[in-house]
Amino acid sequence: MYSFKMLGFGLAKGRLTVTNEDISKLVDTSDEWITSRTGIKSRYISRQENTSDLGLAAAKMAIEDAGIDQREIGLIIVATMTPDNFTPSTACLIQQKLGLSDCEVTAFDLNAACSGFIYALKTALALLPEHKKALVIGAETLSKLIDWTDRSTCILFGDGAGAVVLDREKGSCADFYTRSCGDEKQVLTAGGIIMNPLSNPPKDYSYLKMDGQEVFRFAVNAIADAAMKVLDKNNLSVEDVDLIIPHQANIRIISAAARRLGVPESKFFTNLQNYGNTSAASVAIALAQCRQEGRLKKGMKILLVGFGAGLTYGAAYINL
Ligand code: ACO
Repeated sequence: MYSFKMLGFGLAKGRLTVTNEDISKLVDTSDEWITSRTGIKSRYISRQENTSDLGLAAAKMAIEDAGIDQREIGLIIVATMTPDNFTPSTACLIQQKLGLSDCEVTAFDLNAACSGFIYALKTALALLPEHKKALVIGAETLSKLIDWTDRSTCILFGDGAGAVVLDREKGSCADFYTRSCGDEKQVLTAGGIIMNPLSNPPKDYSYLKMDGQEVFRFAVNAIADAAMKVLDKNNLSVEDVDLIIPHQANIRIISAAARRLGVPESKFFTNLQNYGNTSAASVAIALAQCRQEGRLKKGMKILLVGFGAGLTYGAAYINL
């Protein structure tokens, strides 16, 4: 049995800082409403940068942090629900932009919405080639899926990317619990239904739509369930965990999950105040920020927890 260790971390964000005051000039809302209901104060939005540009910037930072030659990379997985194109994949675009087109690399995208980075780490563990490193990226430009006249959704999301470089290692520990629950009630959808336009004339572009209260309920249960399932598998209790890095959707979701798990909120890292919800990028960005701030120490037990559209959720237990 082998596992992985994390060698390097990187992050990138959309170029434009958009505050709650800025959004209150677009729709009928206020800084007070957004802060008290979500905890978000501002978010980063792209100008010309697409998902592959943000992913590339995060990847370059992670490669430099890992101190490796990028030609050592044999696997690139990009978790995203906002790719540049249907095809080529964002991962292939990043491979090409890294100058690795002639190298033996397996590159592909994975869509598990906001749980995507956890799913991608789990997939990388299964596929990590011998003597090669993996680049796992969460990258999103959610701003292109947002209806900027809908005050119930446009306040929540931001653009960014996070990346890690992984290496195979015996003896280190990474374990996962993931689960998908097909969204019968359509509580969270984006992009509309895509069909053959010859027999199905295209309908209007469909922006992200969400039943906020249903998603809220799902999210609190999902965090608690995923955390307990992966800890139980490893004979650990939540008290044994040094740091929990959750998907950065809403501070009230994180507070409710902390109460449900019986741990202080201080055990949860948050940066949603400045980033908003960046979907598959959110846990990856938070992880890279923890690294930059010197919060990740060798031997620490950390939990990454994600939940999102699909519906999907999952947790990663990592012994650094
Ligand atoms: N400013 C002012 N008023 C608003 C705004 C706004 N931005 N948005 C909604 N309102 C109004 C509504 O119109 C409603 O008014 P009404 O009572 O006159 O009808 C009132 O506020 C209450 O609306 P609710 O939807 O009940 O507000 P709620 O307290 O549920 O907060 C929120 C909404 C913040 C979206 C919350 O439900 C939430 O955070 N849910 C989870 C969403 C989430 O995290 N999604 C992402 C996870 S998955 C993924 O990341 C893809």
